[in-house]
Amino acid sequence: MTDCALSCKARARGTIGAMAMDEYVLDSAVVRGFVGEVRTAVESSGSPAAAIEAIRPRFAELLADPGWLPDVYQAPAPESGMGGGIGQWLLYRAGDGSLSLFSLVVPPGAETPVHDHLAWGLVGLYRGTQDEEIFERDGDGLRLTERRAIEPGDFYALLPPRDDIHRVRTTSEEPSVSIHLLTNDTGCVWRHTFDPDSGEQHDFRSGYANVDCDDD
Ligand SMILES: [Fe+2]
Repeated sequence: MTDCALSCKARARGTIGAMAMDEYVLDSAVVRGFVGEVRTAVESSGSPAAAIEAIRPRFAELLADPGWLPDVYQAPAPESGMGGGIGQWLLYRAGDGSLSLFSLVVPPGAETPVHDHLAWGLVGLYRGTQDEEIFERDGDGLRLTERRAIEPGDFYALLPPRDDIHRVRTTSEEPSVSIHLLTNDTGCVWRHTFDPDSGEQHDFRSGYANVDCDDD
């Protein structure tokens, strides 16, 4: 067996030995260039807050670029872990689970559950419009801290525990498409949904519409 055959089989499994490999589900020059710049920013920044500042200009460019995201990643997903036909489409993830890039497609009138992310990163709107409600923990419950309308090109930082719990609802007549850059494998980690009234939390793993998690 040639070296190429070995590595190609390993790549098909997503691993070489015990080491998982980076996955470019959308393997394009734009995504590779963006991820490369993000990784450089993370490695050269002394803190998540500094890394977020370094990444902001490049993230704004990605949201303003109309041509890099194929239609399939801007479509709802009827059988969705999020419910409501919400499509969570993985575009890239690091083999070590330290970074993921995905689109989240919320049909008109649909909303996510109140949920957390458990990682820092950036979230921005690419298509459509949304209302977002942000919550913080308040004793055993949740307190609504902010409600805002979001338009294409708007983006915000998640820096847990700040702004880590929210829900979004699509207010446009077409699905909203947001781009998430987060420092975990968001679709595959166990996180939480919340009852916004009682604050009761439930374990939650959203999955992705287009790839499995390792233990699926
Ligand atoms: Fe979210």
